[in-house]
Amino acid sequence: MLRDDDIAQQRARFVAAVHTGLSAPQKRLPTEFLYDDRGSALFDDICEVPEYYLTRTELGIMRAHVAQMAADIGPDASVIEYGSGSSTKTRLLLEAMVRPRAYVPVDISRGHLETVCAQLRLEYPALVIAPVVADFTRPFELPMLLAGPRVAYFPGSTIGNFEPVAASALLRRMGQQVGPDGCVLIGADLRKSLAVLEPAYDDAAGVTAAFNLNLLVRVNRELSGDLDPSRFRHRAYYDTEHGRIVMTLVSTCAQRANVAGRRFDFDRDEVIITEYSHKYTLDGFAGLAADAGLAVAQVWTDNAQWFSVQRLVPIV
Ligand code: AVI
Repeated sequence: MLRDDDIAQQRARFVAAVHTGLSAPQKRLPTEFLYDDRGSALFDDICEVPEYYLTRTELGIMRAHVAQMAADIGPDASVIEYGSGSSTKTRLLLEAMVRPRAYVPVDISRGHLETVCAQLRLEYPALVIAPVVADFTRPFELPMLLAGPRVAYFPGSTIGNFEPVAASALLRRMGQQVGPDGCVLIGADLRKSLAVLEPAYDDAAGVTAAFNLNLLVRVNRELSGDLDPSRFRHRAYYDTEHGRIVMTLVSTCAQRANVAGRRFDFDRDEVIITEYSHKYTLDGFAGLAADAGLAVAQVWTDNAQWFSVQRLVPIV
């Protein structure tokens, strides 16, 4: 759970982002707010739909190569994980590492972190578990002096949800946090055919559509809005020029809605962008890393080269 002042601050940021986003010529809603309790549960469901290849492909890469990853990381290292750390991938990494010293999961949700950490303390009694409640997209302090090398773990291709300038800034901060002896272990989704990419973001069961439309429900609940989710439809398409999936909500009619005291008009077929999900070439990702002062030390992929897990090291 967040403290009251955190909640007030988060609401103020939410209002500002929605007001700015819905006033812009190209309407936007903030991606980070897709993940309330319902949105997080729907995202977990997305990871299970057959079209969403990312999770199972990354897991396959981890299972096949985690021993090598752990060997490259070396003994007595500490893992800082950006975002929620309840997943199988984290456990695979911790179990393969030799004498991991500390695990520092960083997440905005205190409740989620407490649940995850309580479970991990039972499973790994020798591991120091030091959660940090923070928005990892902004600078934050590490909890203590972490002895030994540091690994910034950022799985899931969440880096793809940041536009290049923000992605590079985030990677740069990770590089600074791990220092010259550390590394960044990151999942990055790769470019592939439209026939695979687009259904992954518009599954037949409609789970991604529900995930996207839930953002309107959240806006209504938290910001006294009256957006009508039944008058918007989910549309996700691959933007070849920028190499990214664009997830949108499309207004099915001309309509007007109020959010936190302001009124917004929507034309029929007007689009609200809710998320980008960038897909990389290996060279493109190496370029992004280089912009952030990091070099690609190792790349692991699946046989079809749909997804990559990469170890990046600070350029010294
Ligand atoms: C969290 N992130 C990596 C997901 C993605 O694939 O970009 C979010 C997502 N949006 C729709 N489906 C999944």
